[in-house]
Amino acid sequence: MTPRQILIDTDPGQDDAIAILLALASPELEVLGITTVAGNVPLRLTSRNARIICELAGRSDIPVYAGADKPLQRALVTAEFVHGKSGLDGITLPEPQMPLREGHAVNFLIETLMAREGVTVCALGPLTNIALALQKEPRIAQRIERIVLMGGGYFEGGNITPAAEFNFYVDPQAAAQVFAAGIPITMAPLDVTHQALTTRPRIAALRALGNRVGEAAAAWMEFFERFDEEKYGQEGGPLHDPCVIAWLLKPELFTGRRCNVEIETGSELTLGMSVVDWWGVTRRPQNALVLGGIDADGYFRLITERLGVLP
Ligand code: RIB
Ligand code: CA
Repeated sequence: MTPRQILIDTDPGQDDAIAILLALASPELEVLGITTVAGNVPLRLTSRNARIICELAGRSDIPVYAGADKPLQRALVTAEFVHGKSGLDGITLPEPQMPLREGHAVNFLIETLMAREGVTVCALGPLTNIALALQKEPRIAQRIERIVLMGGGYFEGGNITPAAEFNFYVDPQAAAQVFAAGIPITMAPLDVTHQALTTRPRIAALRALGNRVGEAAAAWMEFFERFDEEKYGQEGGPLHDPCVIAWLLKPELFTGRRCNVEIETGSELTLGMSVVDWWGVTRRPQNALVLGGIDADGYFRLITERLGVLP
């Protein structure tokens, strides 16, 4: 079986970290590189964190490139109140030894996509790097096999404002450009991720792996969930970003439908809102496969099984 070649664009973030580890642990996927973007925490920290995660997995061979340090137009909004000052709070890990690769992440994305056929882009943060790459080299739109992204919400609404999910809110112009680019998209919105909660038994199963990665993932979930438990009054927090990788590995864990998705970029009140035509009331093109359901037990079983093969 030829592994699917993927690029991961990310703003780690504890949930990004678990998504990256899941990808690195899965032989079905070949991670061609990781590009970092400002989001949960500033770019310097997302770029540090991405390398910490690679070294935790024993994969200092993975190219990591730093990308955009701010959104296309708006001022950067970060989420230390969720992820902690470092963006990876919950466990102390060594500072990375592997260097960042020379050059900008956007150029790496373009060079890789122009040189290879059939590459899938996994977007786990604000879509600034992807939009910049499309602006700089529009031909990549015909070359990207699919963009699988975590972002948006429809019946669930927003998590950073009543209307908008964080990734789309940080850079709504970038999100709008990506959804208008004609690239096949799979979207994992809050409606799905909020069905996948990091409950105590699920965290315990990770810790029971007895490896470094299991301990780190458990500690990250325990830190990450404290904010969501207080806000939503449920046990556990939504494990957002690994849904992107899990859909590539086991799409049967999810349900969804093709819909039109547009991103609000004009209204201050609903800036970054994903307007999902779930019931097909408009004639707008169905530009995304929008996920709606998840087998949460199967999802956490997959994560736990795969992370068990790492150091
Ligand atoms: O709204 C959740 C998303 O915002 C996740 O990608 C999380 O890591 C943050 O980036
Ligand atoms: Ca993220």
